[in-house]
Amino acid sequence: MSGAPQAPTYPDLVRDLADRGLLTGRWRQVFDAVPRSRFVPAAVWRQLSDRCEPVVGTDASLALVNSDEPVVTQLDDGAKGGPGVATSSNSMPSMVARMLGLLDVEDGQRVLEIGTGTGYVSALLCKRLGDDLVHSVELDPVVARQAADALAQSGYRPHLRVGDGEHPWPGLGLVDRLIATCALRYVPYTLLRQVRPGGIVVAPLAREFWSGALVQLRVQGDGTAVGPFCGGATYMPMRAHRVPDLHEVRGKGRARAAGLDPAQLLDLGFALYAGARLPGVRLIHRNTGQGVQVWVTRENGSAATAATGEEVWQYGPGFLWEEIEQTWWEYETAGRPDADRFGLTVTGRGQHVWLRDPSEVIRPARGQLARSGLRRSAG
Ligand SMILES: C[S@@+](CC[C@H](N)C(=O)[O-])C[C@H]1O[C@@H](n2cnc3c(N)ncnc32)[C@H](O)[C@@H]1O
Repeated sequence: MSGAPQAPTYPDLVRDLADRGLLTGRWRQVFDAVPRSRFVPAAVWRQLSDRCEPVVGTDASLALVNSDEPVVTQLDDGAKGGPGVATSSNSMPSMVARMLGLLDVEDGQRVLEIGTGTGYVSALLCKRLGDDLVHSVELDPVVARQAADALAQSGYRPHLRVGDGEHPWPGLGLVDRLIATCALRYVPYTLLRQVRPGGIVVAPLAREFWSGALVQLRVQGDGTAVGPFCGGATYMPMRAHRVPDLHEVRGKGRARAAGLDPAQLLDLGFALYAGARLPGVRLIHRNTGQGVQVWVTRENGSAATAATGEEVWQYGPGFLWEEIEQTWWEYETAGRPDADRFGLTVTGRGQHVWLRDPSEVIRPARGQLARSGLRRSAG
């Protein structure tokens, strides 16, 4: 028998997540009981690599909602006639499942979510823990209103707030778990101060160097937090944490032969290593017929671009490509560690990335510690 392929259904999607080992039995029941479609408004877009495409028609919309893809629900902070940048979405279900797994909630625990978005994650948490233990904050009032309506229509009443989740929720007290569903450039210490010692924070970090990653932090008795990176994650950033793709480039180009194929740089472990060694350096890429092209920039106008099989071009002060190659060889000498060997420590004075153990802090390559590479932390 032949015919058109069957459109995927929500139970198919949940089964797929479970088959991939992303849902415990308990979370599978919760996902099954909370249909994603109830939290998706009428106007939606599909996220393509370079733009958002409107999804037209109920069938197309339902096919997107029942697939393991993000569903974009707002462009340009809701402004008309903007460039079409996604600013709110119902996240990719496998990413939601991974994050909720890392959150490791237990019965009776209070959770704070930053970025209510469509309300889907709040609904899953309500189903798992009960309405009264779930708190969620959303910056955009229109998005927050839609989420509150969708939640109420599905029978969920978590504590909702319209406001900036980077700042403490007045009167909330300490929670056991905090999940940020918008990407952070750094983990604000103010977030940690809302979580009890022993509690867990799960957040996507938007690294400037190529790619973002999930981090799972455990809050310590002294208020600091430590934990591992747990795979890649691309999320829309917290509003105050947005960065433009690249810095402005200065000066004339200088060409030289490339010492490595730029495709090698597109590795999450290297992105975490290089992000710590070369803070403030941005790297983006695009695929080409022959391989990839990368652009690297720094705030002082220094820049480089390299494409597979071609010469490297460097611009502005310094030799940014040489620094990238040097950092790559260091990474290779360290055994090209996978992303899950890296972790993060957050204190009241900032955050630092480490490799294998919190004492093995990766220091910036420039300035006083330029020649040291990996060093033991002082304290
Ligand atoms: C990927 S969406 C969240 C998805 C959501 N968890 C869901 O279940 O649909 C990210 C959301 O974070 C919100 N956001 C951005 N910056 C914020 C901030 N500073 N405080 C609270 N929410 C913020 C955005 O408006 C957007 O709705």
